[in-house]
Amino acid sequence: MQTGELLYKGKAKSIYRTDKDDELLAVFRDDITAFNGEKKDEFAGKGEYNFAASAFFFDFLEKNGVKTHYLRAVDERSMIVSKLNMIPLEVIARNRAAGSVVKMFPFEEGQILDPPVVVTDYKDDERGDPSINDDLIVALGLLTPEELADVREKTLTINRLLSDFFEGLGLILVDFKIEFGRKDGMILLGDEISMDSMRLWDMSTMESFDKDVYRFDKGDLMSAYARVVEKINQWKDSHME
Ligand code: ADP
Ligand code: CDP
Repeated sequence: MQTGELLYKGKAKSIYRTDKDDELLAVFRDDITAFNGEKKDEFAGKGEYNFAASAFFFDFLEKNGVKTHYLRAVDERSMIVSKLNMIPLEVIARNRAAGSVVKMFPFEEGQILDPPVVVTDYKDDERGDPSINDDLIVALGLLTPEELADVREKTLTINRLLSDFFEGLGLILVDFKIEFGRKDGMILLGDEISMDSMRLWDMSTMESFDKDVYRFDKGDLMSAYARVVEKINQWKDSHME
């Protein structure tokens, strides 16, 4: 499609201006990075799989009362989103211990975290996305205490909705990262919800269906992503109104 000026080229998406001031075009690319950009590759089709998952989840969350930036799909890897004033935080919800939390604390890999744990990183590649706490978030003027509570509540709601959804597909939502932004005084869910930004394990085999397949060379990444999208499509087919 005809695109406007490239505003930002991130690690996995490109953001373009559109003919409307309050809308942007987000294009999901095939690039993938891990370990803060140390590992980099390109997988044909990755952008389309992550787009499909993101578009589905934004729509699913909207239908369940969560406000997101998603407006509409343009093609199989691009979506129009509301322009947000992004809050530079990576909000992570964890239902099981995996990844950095196992390295940093005495958790067993896969240990159930009940209630779920919400942690936050400061989004700044040059600083290595350091973990940040509530007082620092307020001191930096990123969120007010009221907004902090709102972001936490929204994150837990999204976690409940997505965890239940994946359970129905035979998958465990181990953890995921989301980003929020402001529009007209409201805080909306932005960015993406995809296999790049979550950990998903098969309920019976504990096999990974997410970016860990790439991070730790666990197998064929595109087969894993395709499997998740296939399961989402099967769910859609059986829930046609
Ligand atoms: P990164 O910046 O981590 O490399 P991406 O490649 O995913 O990540 O780039 C997408 C960028 O667009 C991110 O920085 C994200 O914060 C930003 N973004 C996502 N949604 C919106 C939005 N609705 N409005 C403005 N910026 C957005
Ligand atoms: O990925 P890593 O082990 O370094 O970090 P983590 O804190 O254990 O990640 C928790 C979850 O957030 C995982 O699902 C990551 O894929 C996701 N995440 C992300 O999408 N982007 C980041 N910059 C950091 C984490």
